[in-house]
Amino acid sequence: MAKRELSDLRSQRWYAGTSIRGFAHRQRTQQFGLRREEFMGKPVIGIVNTWSEMNACHAHLRHRAEAVKRGVWQAGGYPVELPAQSMAEIMVKPTTMLYRNFLAMEVEELLRCHPIDGAVLLGGCDKSTPGMLMGAFSTDLPSIFCPAGPMSNGRYKGTITGAGTHTKKYFDMLRRGEIDAQEWINLESPMTRTVGTCNTMGTASTMTSIVDAMGLSPTGASSIPAVDSGHERMASLCGELAVKMVWDDLRPSRLLDRRSFMNGLVAYMALGGSTNAAIHLIAMAGRLGIELSLEDMAAKSEVIPVLANLFPSGEYLMEDFYFAGGLKALLGKVKDHLDLSVPTVEGQTIGDALEGAECYNDDVIRDVSNPVTPLSKGRTLVVLRGNLAPNGAVLKSSAADPKFLKHKGPALVFDHPDAMMKALDDADFEVSEDTVLVLRNAGPVGAPGMPEWGNLPIPKSLLKKGVRDIVRICDGRMSGTHYGTCVLHVSPEAAVGGPLALLQTGDLVSLDVPAGRLDMEVGEEELARRRAALKPSARVYESSFTALYQRSVTQADKGCDFDFLAGVRDLPEPEIY
Ligand code: FES
Ligand code: MG
Repeated sequence: MAKRELSDLRSQRWYAGTSIRGFAHRQRTQQFGLRREEFMGKPVIGIVNTWSEMNACHAHLRHRAEAVKRGVWQAGGYPVELPAQSMAEIMVKPTTMLYRNFLAMEVEELLRCHPIDGAVLLGGCDKSTPGMLMGAFSTDLPSIFCPAGPMSNGRYKGTITGAGTHTKKYFDMLRRGEIDAQEWINLESPMTRTVGTCNTMGTASTMTSIVDAMGLSPTGASSIPAVDSGHERMASLCGELAVKMVWDDLRPSRLLDRRSFMNGLVAYMALGGSTNAAIHLIAMAGRLGIELSLEDMAAKSEVIPVLANLFPSGEYLMEDFYFAGGLKALLGKVKDHLDLSVPTVEGQTIGDALEGAECYNDDVIRDVSNPVTPLSKGRTLVVLRGNLAPNGAVLKSSAADPKFLKHKGPALVFDHPDAMMKALDDADFEVSEDTVLVLRNAGPVGAPGMPEWGNLPIPKSLLKKGVRDIVRICDGRMSGTHYGTCVLHVSPEAAVGGPLALLQTGDLVSLDVPAGRLDMEVGEEELARRRAALKPSARVYESSFTALYQRSVTQADKGCDFDFLAGVRDLPEPEIY
């Protein structure tokens, strides 16, 4: 690969030359107390840090950035830390998804407006991974993703507890009266033992593992627990590699192509990853002009079973996954499905990186011959189409009760979560197990921001009868840590006039997973009548970022990116006068 010269680096437009601007840039850098020799003639590496005191998943990144800087200095670069919005999945309302594109814009503009040659991206909590990478892809500067790492395993009274999955489980136990209010309080602290991202196979580990498999992190980095000393060493390596990537001009458009995304999908399916990834990957590919569709994902899920025995599909946590050999061990088991010639940020191929990968626990990371869920019983991602979702909907059938995968039942439709919660929490509200529970107006425009409302609660009257799952449909998303027969991401959403808006309580809904269908049994004429009477349901925002969001967001099957940000850009470098 052709090495770049110092004069090729964009930072030199700021730092070199005799103009008054060059003088001011050098002056302002020395204002930090740096000697001229310490930064002149070196690639400038932007360490984009999503640390914040609202995001415990990223609490250690404040300190971890120092390890990245160490790596950058040692490799002859000049590191600068740039704070960016932290996307604390639990704390940010109405939903982090509303701000994923905001973070993408921030990262893109941060890198573009400063004298940055390459970037190390520190993140991991759910939307931060796609948000940061979408921005970095659009600048097309050499970039490496340094994952925050999962929190350590949790236990409560000797029982394994995973972030998200068990919160939901214990909440259902509280609703059934199996634990009392004091125990519910006692559970608050022990379930999230350390800093780091969720220790289940939720959206965080799904996304960090996928981008790892795509070659955007040192291979296997995503499995290292946040508090492990190895995590700090990995961060330092990211700093070193970023400098190398600048000299080698290893920019996203040269590092990644459709094969990288296909390798990412192999990891996604073998992990039993979160449904959220289906949206993020389409948005990420879109920034590079790479075609990626829901059908690409469905095709991979048809041939690759869930091998990672992790909650919510399985029974272990991320620390167990790490000790079993982590992502490298998992990828080693699906080598036949990977394109081993795809390059990684380490300057080698993924095939090289997997040389000698071993699995140390075949129960945690299963062999293809002994999957967590056989393909006949359930998959990581099923794509459904039909008159209720002409542009697609998704379902994680591996986390669903198999008896519902072919089901017909009457719809029970809600337009708002408040009304739904009120009805379902009433123990006298009679619902049959056949009911298809529907919540609409939870999509990108309708909610707005497509919140994780899709794991609709089981009605109390059914919970009391021991029912644990029913068919649920929503145009919103669901947390990757949750489980159940939840049809999600219905597109187009109700708020933009998708057919879900026409469904009425009592209509028969048919879910046929083997046939990939989701339909309502309502005649064409009746649907036309209902469409003519349809009233706009979404609150329209006239101001704020939300107004921009509602005007510009694409539907779930297109990745929910902003229409004016998708695709490859040809923007001029900023003028310096
Ligand atoms: Fe941050 Fe789950 S809440 S990763
Ligand atoms: Mg989540």
